[in-house]
Amino acid sequence: MAHKDDLIAEDILGYLKAQEEKSLLRFITCGSVDDGKSTLIGRLLYDSKLIFEDQLAALESDSKKVGTQGGDIDFALLVDGLAAEREQGITIDVAYRFFSTDKRKFIVADTPGHEQYTRNMATGASNAQAALILVDARHGVQVQTRRHSYIVNLLGIRHITVVINKMDLVEYSQERFEEIVAEYQDFAQKLGLEGVNFVPISALKGDNITSRSENLNWFDGPSLMEWLETVDVSSDINEQPFRMPVQWVNRPNLDFRGFSGTIASGRIRPGDSIMVAPSGKSSIVERIVTFDGDLGVAVAGQSVTLTLRDEIDISRGDVLAKTEEKPDHSDQLRATVLWMSEDAMLPGRTYLLKSAANTVHSVVTDLHHKVNVNTLEELAGKTLELNEVGVCNLSLDRGIPFDPYTGNRTTGGFILIDRFTNQTIGAGMIHYGLRRADNITWHEMDVNKSKRAEQKGQKPAVLWFTGLSGAGKSTVANLVEKKLFALGRHTYTLDGDNVRHGLNKDLGFTDADRVENIRRVSETAKLFADAGLVTLVSFISPFRSERQMARALMDEGEFIEVFVDAPLSVCEDRDPKGLYKKARAGEIKNFTGIDSDYEAPRNSEIRLDAGSRTAEELADQVIAYLRESGYI
Ligand code: ADX
Repeated sequence: MAHKDDLIAEDILGYLKAQEEKSLLRFITCGSVDDGKSTLIGRLLYDSKLIFEDQLAALESDSKKVGTQGGDIDFALLVDGLAAEREQGITIDVAYRFFSTDKRKFIVADTPGHEQYTRNMATGASNAQAALILVDARHGVQVQTRRHSYIVNLLGIRHITVVINKMDLVEYSQERFEEIVAEYQDFAQKLGLEGVNFVPISALKGDNITSRSENLNWFDGPSLMEWLETVDVSSDINEQPFRMPVQWVNRPNLDFRGFSGTIASGRIRPGDSIMVAPSGKSSIVERIVTFDGDLGVAVAGQSVTLTLRDEIDISRGDVLAKTEEKPDHSDQLRATVLWMSEDAMLPGRTYLLKSAANTVHSVVTDLHHKVNVNTLEELAGKTLELNEVGVCNLSLDRGIPFDPYTGNRTTGGFILIDRFTNQTIGAGMIHYGLRRADNITWHEMDVNKSKRAEQKGQKPAVLWFTGLSGAGKSTVANLVEKKLFALGRHTYTLDGDNVRHGLNKDLGFTDADRVENIRRVSETAKLFADAGLVTLVSFISPFRSERQMARALMDEGEFIEVFVDAPLSVCEDRDPKGLYKKARAGEIKNFTGIDSDYEAPRNSEIRLDAGSRTAEELADQVIAYLRESGYI
């Protein structure tokens, strides 16, 4: 290392201890290469003198080779690590870098400035305490400056410095600086951003980075490094109400029962009275146990195990709070969602929602509006595409304890996960719980499903026919129903074309509309099964996700998936309604199999070879299955 060598040589333990005791600041830098972001980070790393000697040598030789700075050191090269990036002159993906000064340690998340990378920016910002928003002094506040500010604010970062860079290119003009400050303040006000700090710098020349610059002697605020070293973020989270999501119930033997987790906010001491959300049970903290011994007080960020005076029921996902500061609880949420997947967010589709220590199933019931993050305009929309932000209502399969995100980034934030790929596809910020479900109770009816089924002398079932248009779903379903009817069974058939004449006549064939189509018909099928009927459903139902959702709605063993499997070419040859011809001619858009996906079932209960067998044979195959499996 280029400095501190002496201290390390003389007193390595002292050095390490000092390092350990320094506070850590996580911050994010927003801006593009053109704003000089990479140069700035390179400069911060260089000036904090924590660059390794060999890195420095490589940097000097690279700078000569690439030649963007006429033989001087090009700090951007230090940051733009990937060769491909260097050649293209852009930065991609989030990179975390560590550096330290005598006063503080830093982790900086370097995120790309290009529009399509909003997702990466949100990732980088998600646990940052402070943000640097870069502005090129020549260009002032840009569309992307607004976008960065919006996301930084959305993600709850309250310590922001707008770094006005390239002051050397505007003759270190105080007037220009003030112009940009005024322009930014105007926008900040609309966003509700307060206490924004501004600093004029030249990352390239090193003005106002670590020390105040002669060239900018009209500026009397702190240099950028001084601000980073002194900005006070510690108090924020420790002064908030105490929250500890329980990650694990620690019970190594009968004599010990502790609740482990990371304190999300606030502080706790032995003797404090606490309550458990959602159960509302309360007790008193006895001990705060850690690997290094018991603590007299624990604060946000610490991972601890609490033991309580009373034996109360607490499980993973519960949130411990102080008695008077209870978190909210709901299974219906209003939240802002930032979408991070190539596959659009579809209202009605089930996603896993992970918040603090809870993972539940969730459905976006309503996309209230989308936000144009460049202009803050609210737009109508049915889906969210990659990098889009929207305000929606979510319905969860069970209630979770939470706080509004503005009050607590841990208990107020969540991620959405794809159930099949396990990928994170969205990030959310909770505004509040919706009260609509609070006053609705479930009535148990005396005449219930089993009585209705018993009266009819049958076992309710949902026969779910899926397949391409023209595969023969409705033809086979019709024959099966006739056979069941002849056997004295009580049945009903829900057919795609028919239901789209009434209940679903407001829906078209976009992915979003098909998801809603299937959601409604699944709920309907559930009601018919509850009525004790053998229910036949004949819908293309092209997506695995929604068929899975339908299955999950029914009782165990009640859902029978029937894959009516005919090759596209066969369906197209048959073309009973002439729709394939129209679709090929471009007269119908989003036609299944042509320009809209069909996801074939992988484990259907029944697969019908509809390409080569007759409808009569296929219907018999279904009846045979029902017999063998004890349905009839
Ligand atoms: S689903 O995909 O949402 O399940 P559904 O079964 O309700 O579709 O409706 C399919 C029927 O609508 C088809 O049998 C066909 O008659 C008609 N249809 C009209 N346009 C389309 C289209 N773009 N894609 C598929 N089917 C269409």
